[in-house]
Amino acid sequence: MSPLPPGTIGQGLPRLDGVAKVTGAARYGDDHRVPGAAHAALALSTIARGSIVAIDQAAARAVPGVLEIFTHRNVGKRVKPGRPLLSGGYTNSRVQPLGSPQIHFAGQIVALVVAETAEAAREAADRLVLTYDEKAPTAGFDSPGAEARPAKSMLAKTRLKVGDADEAFAAAPHKVDARYETPAQHHNPMELFQVICAWDSDDLTVWESTQHVIGTQRGIAKQLGLSPKRVRVIAPFVGGAFGARNMPPSTPLVAFAARALGRPVRLVVTRQQGFTLMTFRAETRHRVRLAADRQGRFVALRHDSWELTSRTDNFVLAGSENTARLYACPNIRTEVQVVEADRQTPGFMRAPPEVPYFFAMESAVDELAHAIGLDPVELRRRNDTLVDSVSRKPFSSRALMPCFDAAAEAFGWRERAAHPRAMRRGEWLVGFGCAAAAYPAQVAAADCRATLFPDDRVLIEIGTHEIGTGAYTILAQTAADRLALPIDRIEVRLGDSRLPAAPLTAGSVSTASNCNAVALACDRLAGKRAAAAGAPRTGPLVAEATFKPRGAFPFSQFLIRRGIPMFAGAVRDKHAFFSSGAHFVEAHVHVDTGEVRVPRMVGAFAAGTIVNARTARSQLMGGQIWGLSAALHEATELDRRTARYVNRDLAGYHMPVHADIGRIETILLPQRDERVNPLGIKGVGELGNTGVNAAVANAVFHATGIRCRTLPIRVEHLLQAPA
Ligand code: MOS
Repeated sequence: MSPLPPGTIGQGLPRLDGVAKVTGAARYGDDHRVPGAAHAALALSTIARGSIVAIDQAAARAVPGVLEIFTHRNVGKRVKPGRPLLSGGYTNSRVQPLGSPQIHFAGQIVALVVAETAEAAREAADRLVLTYDEKAPTAGFDSPGAEARPAKSMLAKTRLKVGDADEAFAAAPHKVDARYETPAQHHNPMELFQVICAWDSDDLTVWESTQHVIGTQRGIAKQLGLSPKRVRVIAPFVGGAFGARNMPPSTPLVAFAARALGRPVRLVVTRQQGFTLMTFRAETRHRVRLAADRQGRFVALRHDSWELTSRTDNFVLAGSENTARLYACPNIRTEVQVVEADRQTPGFMRAPPEVPYFFAMESAVDELAHAIGLDPVELRRRNDTLVDSVSRKPFSSRALMPCFDAAAEAFGWRERAAHPRAMRRGEWLVGFGCAAAAYPAQVAAADCRATLFPDDRVLIEIGTHEIGTGAYTILAQTAADRLALPIDRIEVRLGDSRLPAAPLTAGSVSTASNCNAVALACDRLAGKRAAAAGAPRTGPLVAEATFKPRGAFPFSQFLIRRGIPMFAGAVRDKHAFFSSGAHFVEAHVHVDTGEVRVPRMVGAFAAGTIVNARTARSQLMGGQIWGLSAALHEATELDRRTARYVNRDLAGYHMPVHADIGRIETILLPQRDERVNPLGIKGVGELGNTGVNAAVANAVFHATGIRCRTLPIRVEHLLQAPA
C-alpha cells in the first residue's frame, strides 16, 4: 500500500463500511422491515411463445392467508409499459408483464400473488393452473425462425468503415479468418432481487437494491402515473449489481399491489426466477478477418458479429466499436447483426460488449501471431498506436504496452517456449497466453452537496450507489483530501433518490463522475470555510456543486437528474479516452483427461488516477476472476425445443470456487491524465474483466496446440483433436 497520509486520494484505505458489512450492521434491501407488510411471490410462464387462455385460481385461493392474485385480467393497462434504457427510459423491456395475455419468453411474469406469509404466497403461486395457446418458439441461433438482420443502435455504431478492409485483406501476406462463439451468461448478484413498497397516503417509499435510485424512482412514477416527487427509492447497500439491477418489471407491480391492498408489500424473487426476471449476457458469434504485412503491421481488420436478442426490444452491444480501436490499422470494417428469438431481452452484464467481442479479437491477434511466427506481445507492440484508428483522434493517454511489459515481467513471459505443446510438467501440458484489456473511459454529470458542521464534521450527500465497490470509502477519501480533514470527520450519504442526482452506477463511470462532483462541492465548501475564518461559527456551511464533464451532451446534467443515463462517450472533444491493461495466464491441460487448470494469472492495468489502491485492486481482481469464469465455467444452457434455461441455479450454473483460482497478481500502473476529467480518473469497474477469456484460450492453445474458438472451454474440445 502506498505510504500516503490517511484519507488522501490514492491511499489504499480499508473500506470504511467493512466492519458494518461483516457484522451485518449494513442494511441491504430486504434487511429492512416494514410493520404489517404482506408478502408477494411470482408465477412465471412455462412456455416461451403464445398467450394465456385461462388461469384457474381455485387451488391457489384455497391456500390460507392468500390476499390477492394479480394477473393480466386485474392489472392490464393500469400499470403502463416502461421504456427501455436504450431508448432513454428506465426498464429493460417495453413489454410490461401482466399488461396482456401475450407471452414473449419462458419465465415471463404471469401472476403476482400476495399473502400473509412468503410461504403462502409461494405455495399459491405454484398452485395456479395456466392454460396457454402455445406456439413453437425460436430458441436461439440456428433455431427455426431465427433470422439475422442488420443491427441499429442509438448508443453504439453498428457499422464502421475505414479504408478498404476487403481489398487490403485479400492482398496481405499474413492473415487469419476465424469464427468465434460466446455463450449466454447470467449475472446472479449474491443479493436476490427484492423490493418492499410502502404507501403513506399518496407517497410511496421503495426499498430496493438497485444500481439506479433515480431511474427506479422515475420508472415507477411513469408506469403508475405518479409525480416522481411522490416516490422515494432507498438503497444504502447493494449486494452486487453488474448491470442486472436496473428496475425489474416486478417493481411497479409490487407498488401497484401495495396500493390496491392498502398495505406494504414485500417481494423476494427466488434465485431460479432471477434468471428470467432481469436481463442476461446473450450469446454472440463473430467472424474476424485480421491481416498483417511482412513487418507484422496490421493492414486489415474485419469484425463481423451476430448478437442474439429478443423480439420485443432493440438491444445491441456492438462491441466492434472498441475492438476496432485497439490497434493501429488503416483498413477497418465492422458490421453487427442481431438475431431475434423468443427470449427475454438481453442487457448489460459487466463489460457487456468487451467480454464477448474481445474474446474474438484477442484470440484472432494470437492466431495471427502464431501464423506469422511472432511472439504475441511483439505483434501487439508493432501495432501499438497513440491515435484511435477509427476517429483518428489521439488517445488522451495510453499505456497498453507498459501494461504488457509490466505484466510480462511479473509473469516470467520470457520462459515461454516459442511453439505450442512444447512445455510440460508431468501429466500436464503447460501453456502461457496473453491478451489486451481496454475499456472506454466514460464519465457523466453528477450533483453533490457538502455540509460543514461547527464541530468540523462534514456530510457528503450524493445519490450514487454502493454496489460492493467501495463507494462510501472513495467518496469520503476525496472529501478528506480536498478539505484537508481526517477521514473520520467525513460522513457519506448515498443510495437515496432524494439526494443530489448521480448517474446510473454502470459503465465504470461512478468513481470518475462522483469523485469529481465531491471534489467540486468540497472546494466550494473550503472557499466558504476560508471566507468565514475567524468569525464565530454557529450554523453549518453548505456548498452544492454540479460536475459537468467536458465534451458531454450540453444539458446532460438535467437528464441525469431525470434518471436518464447520459454518459459522455469515450470519443469526445479532441481525444479518445480509454483505460488499458494486459492479462497473462498460465494454463495446465491434463494430457489424458483434458482438464484445464489455471494456477496463475497476472494483470497490469493503467486507468488514470486510482482513488483507492485497495478497492481498485479488488475490483480489477474480481474482473480477472470473472474473466477466467467466462473462459472455463460459465454458460446458461438452453433447451432448444422449449427455449427454456436448464441450469437456473448456482448448482447448475458453474462458477469458479476457491479451488479453481490460483495465484492472482494485479498490478496498478501509475498514469496521469488531466484531459479525461479534472481528477484524472478513468474507472476500473469493468476493465479487469475484458480480454481475460481470450488470454485463457490463448494459454490453452499454447499448452495443447488446440484452438478453442467457442466458450466455455470444455474437456470435450480438448479431447476431440488428435493428441
Ligand atoms: Mo454495468 S454492465 O455497466 O452495470
